[in-house]
Amino acid sequence: MVEARKNENAEEQLSLLPAALEALLKDDDDLVSGLANAAAALKLYLDDINWAGFYLLKDKTLVLGPFQGLPACTRIGEGKGVCGKAALDGKTLVVPDVHAFPGHIACDSASASEIVVPLFRAGKVFAVLDIDSPRPGRFGPAEEAILTRAGNIISAWASGLIL
Ligand code: SME
Repeated sequence: MVEARKNENAEEQLSLLPAALEALLKDDDDLVSGLANAAAALKLYLDDINWAGFYLLKDKTLVLGPFQGLPACTRIGEGKGVCGKAALDGKTLVVPDVHAFPGHIACDSASASEIVVPLFRAGKVFAVLDIDSPRPGRFGPAEEAILTRAGNIISAWASGLIL
């Protein structure tokens, strides 16, 4: 079981995230419980973030899923906000300054930067992973690379579930 953080070095800590996710998901056959633990692991292994969680695509609308952070908007329409755009394009979106992103949806006024990683089942986006930080430019190439890996792990796991 994944427990408390193991070291104080943020970069090293982040490098442990993929293995932590693999360990948490491997024996879980339920989408909600797996994503709930994944959200908790993201919050634990990433420094300086105020929200980490999932929106699940249902009939072209993103519906709030498991997360860690303040209560958030529950529905995001097709193509709306950072999440809707990443889901529509099927591409990771890194926003260094959310205030400069046209249409950004502010759930927590503390959020300054954001990354959204689309998740796939059978080649189609079924959810997005969304992470917010109070620090502008929090998500650089190293974070994008590891969170893309995290997204691939979650996508591969979800692809094996019977939903
Ligand atoms: N900022 C997101 C909305 C979700 S919250 O950040 C949790 C967006 O613009 O899509």
